[in-house]
Amino acid sequence: MAKVDRGRIRREFALYTSAYDASQEKIKLKIIHTYRVAELCEKIADSLGMTQEQKDVAWACGMLHDIGRFEQLRRYDTFVDSESIDHARFGTELLFGEEQLIRRFFAEGDAPEVLRDAIACHSAYRLPEEMDETTRAFATILRDADKVDIFRVNVESPLEKIYNTTRRELYSCEISEEVMEALRQGHAVLRSLKRTPIDHVASHIALAFELVYPKSRELAKEQGYLDTILAFESQNPKTRAQFEEIRQRMRRFYETGV
Ligand SMILES: [Fe+2]
Repeated sequence: MAKVDRGRIRREFALYTSAYDASQEKIKLKIIHTYRVAELCEKIADSLGMTQEQKDVAWACGMLHDIGRFEQLRRYDTFVDSESIDHARFGTELLFGEEQLIRRFFAEGDAPEVLRDAIACHSAYRLPEEMDETTRAFATILRDADKVDIFRVNVESPLEKIYNTTRRELYSCEISEEVMEALRQGHAVLRSLKRTPIDHVASHIALAFELVYPKSRELAKEQGYLDTILAFESQNPKTRAQFEEIRQRMRRFYETGV
């Protein structure tokens, strides 16, 4: 039976991340993101009528989901997975592989079974077909919560920092045609299709299409960050027109659900 000791997880997470330089914008960003995602996981779990124990598990998924980010940044100096490693899988490797980082967060045998798969798949394009129902529920909660907070990160952090680019490049580049096509079709963008810095911004907007639970959509709307991202003002006329098209597409999605 899973037993989540929130105090221990909070303490150990603070201790683990203290080994990284929190004065660095990117590290700070991921620490804040972690606490936010954990909180959102709990809210979504609550909206689904889950028990306290299940809510604790959802919260723990949020607390550990990005544990791979810190080593990713230290080793590769980027958060862009396609230029480094799949941070989600890397996180599960750190937790359950040779290093057994999981032992810091849970007493022997207490770690929830769903944790590994939920974390491993949290940023995947789609969940694997063969996933059992319970794991799928927690994985979906985590994926929704992560997306909801990504909207905030896109607004509160300088975009050029998140995407390792310059302001000039960000405000002058165009959205790739394949990325626009994914938005027109109303689904997330495959990682391999992202080529320009603004593709990353556009693909984050597309995450809104993927929110599964009504509570997640409500939370995303309530926050208002998505509207701010949509208001991005490029200096390139073509990109401005692309954003106008995206805004209209999102309006339709919010009005009709498709
Ligand atoms: Fe992540």
